[in-house]
Amino acid sequence: MAHGTGLCRVDWFNLSTGRLVVGVTGASGAIYAQRFLRVAVRHFREVYLTMSEQAIQVAETELGARIGRTPLDTGEWLGETPPGLRLLDSKDFFTPPASGSFRHDGMVIVPCSMGSAGRIAHGVSDDLLTRAADVCLKEGRPLIVVPREMPMSTIMLRNLTTLAEAGVRVIPACPAWYSRPRTLEELADTVVARILQSLGIEHGLVPEWGADDPGDGTGSVAGSTMVQEP
Ligand SMILES: Cc1cc2nc3c(=O)[nH]c(=O)nc-3n(C[C@H](O)[C@H](O)[C@H](O)COP(=O)(O)O)c2cc1C
Repeated sequence: MAHGTGLCRVDWFNLSTGRLVVGVTGASGAIYAQRFLRVAVRHFREVYLTMSEQAIQVAETELGARIGRTPLDTGEWLGETPPGLRLLDSKDFFTPPASGSFRHDGMVIVPCSMGSAGRIAHGVSDDLLTRAADVCLKEGRPLIVVPREMPMSTIMLRNLTTLAEAGVRVIPACPAWYSRPRTLEELADTVVARILQSLGIEHGLVPEWGADDPGDGTGSVAGSTMVQEP
């Protein structure tokens, strides 16, 4: 199955290398990256992670966990350093995701700042994260961005439209309330679940709407059990 507008076609379900690239930028919402990565490392053999300098500062501010810079050290932030997690310096272009010859199943940028979205939309690959995204676009690989900003200017909206037209899946960090999240983690997981769904990853983070519908037409999921990630 292909996804796109016709301008660029991306084969979203031809995923087979067991490798995923993840970029984290300095938009608010480090919890989304934290929750997503904890699941992603269990599903992908290798996860290549790069964080911008702003991403590190914002994550430390929002979650209070220290993140080492050189080398990148996410142990405290993620609670562990899984063997498949490859931590990459955001300025190091001599790393696998900077090259199209390195095959992987796609890239997720979570959260994605308006600055990074704008640079990717205009082909400005001035760090590893934007270069890796550029590579996804030129190689026709799945690219997911999870933008977060409020309000958005016309320029920001145009940049996101440009990305969508290029075949990028835009999953805004807009948490949903209909599953009745009880904690910040459950609320964040309503976004994380959509990223995982786009990657074709089975998860139990949020119940599917109507999956346990009693058939009375209410579509109610009240009483559904949320599977809590660590
Ligand atoms: C606490 C904090 C929160 C921020 N939240 C956002 C945000 O939600 N969206 C956004 O686009 N930028 C946000 N910014 C600004 C970005 O960090 C800034 O534009 C930065 O240059 C992004 O760089 P990067 O894309 O290389 O990470 C925030 C900055 C700070 C300090």
